[in-house]
Amino acid sequence: MKNYDVKDLSLSREGRLRINWAGKEMPVVKLIRQRFGKERPLAGVRISACLHVTTETANLAMALKEGGAQVVLCASNPLSTQDDVAAALVDYGIPVNAVKGEDNKIYYKHIITALKHKPHITMDDGADLVSTLHKDYKKLAANVIGGTEETTTGVIRLRNMARAGKLIYPIIAVNDAQTKHFFDNKYGTGQSAIDGITRATNILWAGRKVVVCGYGWCGKGIAKRAQGLGAQVIVTEVRPIPALEAAMDGYQVMHLIRACEIAEVFITTTGDMNVIDRRHFLKMKDGAILANSGHFNVEINIAALESLAKSKKRTRSSVDEYTLRDGRRLYLLGEGRLINLAAAEGHPASVMDMSFANQALCLEYLTKMKGKLKPAVYPVPEEIDQRVGGLKLASMNITIDSLTREQKKYLASWEEGT
Ligand SMILES: NC(=O)c1ccc[n+]([C@@H]2O[C@H](COP(=O)([O-])OP(=O)(O)OC[C@H]3O[C@@H](n4cnc5c(N)ncnc54)[C@H](O)[C@@H]3O)[C@@H](O)[C@H]2O)c1
Repeated sequence: MKNYDVKDLSLSREGRLRINWAGKEMPVVKLIRQRFGKERPLAGVRISACLHVTTETANLAMALKEGGAQVVLCASNPLSTQDDVAAALVDYGIPVNAVKGEDNKIYYKHIITALKHKPHITMDDGADLVSTLHKDYKKLAANVIGGTEETTTGVIRLRNMARAGKLIYPIIAVNDAQTKHFFDNKYGTGQSAIDGITRATNILWAGRKVVVCGYGWCGKGIAKRAQGLGAQVIVTEVRPIPALEAAMDGYQVMHLIRACEIAEVFITTTGDMNVIDRRHFLKMKDGAILANSGHFNVEINIAALESLAKSKKRTRSSVDEYTLRDGRRLYLLGEGRLINLAAAEGHPASVMDMSFANQALCLEYLTKMKGKLKPAVYPVPEEIDQRVGGLKLASMNITIDSLTREQKKYLASWEEGT
């Protein structure tokens, strides 16, 4: 019986070429893959992965398979699947259930198919797979050694589950590794969100007034890249310290409602809901562009936008034009889903190299720790984080100084002062 659901298997050759291209930018994952091929640390381990089906994820999945794992993959967002990659993975012997543009019903059907693999390990990006298991397939937890979570929003959901006493197996918060969020969230989202908006609209950034909602790891990256292209960046925040940081980094900081009167492009990346809401749409200028780069499509209140609009039409492949009753037109990109994946290719491979090296090494760690971890959200072991950083630096041919014996002694002492 067919154990996959992809758009078109004949896209496989194109997918394979693109996977290989991304692989050239992923030297750390390559090293892990070579070692996994020899040592087979994941022999017989069943993995259900719910990740964006991209060229980078393909390189990770192939490394896990070479390590002996039986991997199945579904999408962590209905719009992020690269159909050619899905086809190539099926050819490679990794069942994929994901089709770009699938509706919510099919999205969850694919998650359930991945769960029916009876995983020993779950890999998630946003915690939809884990929450489905916890809500409707609890019995499967008996087999589960543990899981990993890729993104900020997923980690928040899992911590809430743990706090409520609902989490039933251990999960490692890959997002919280320094070699993940310092780079993936900041430089990856920074570049790819701008890329997605550019591909969707072909706007010139220079001179444009751009609002970034949320000055966390992703927001910092997006603001910096938009500014680098000549945009005038406004930041909105709800916490004083990131707001202060944004002000001292040289951006204007103000209430979103005020920014609506002057800005032309709005990018949310908060992990929060209804950040851009009805009252904001009512103030925006004709032609305003709205994009989200946070995990879920809840940051822009699309239902409110729909209710304000007298008509809606698709004007470009990732652009929906909403005409409000007073004639103003607002442009929603990528249906409010993470724009870097909906309208572009997601993060560049070089940065996913670190995120996915953490993933692969954490899976190896979880199998070694089988039965020893409690149901809780764990950090990535420091040793893994440091190792990934060291390997990445080496792959970039960068060497750094080391402490002398005298410096080590000084840094470990307290007696010496003025
Ligand atoms: N697009 C991608 O590929 C990608 C990559 C990594 C993370 N993410 C997602 O992006 C989102 C942000 O991640 P992060 O790592 O930057 O999180 P973060 O916690 O570092 O930053 C979020 C910021 O948003 C602020 N915020 C919350 N509600 C707000 C509101 N109503 N208005 C203004 N600011 C508000 C918070 O104060 C915080 O500073 C998450 O959903 C995460 O999962 C997306």
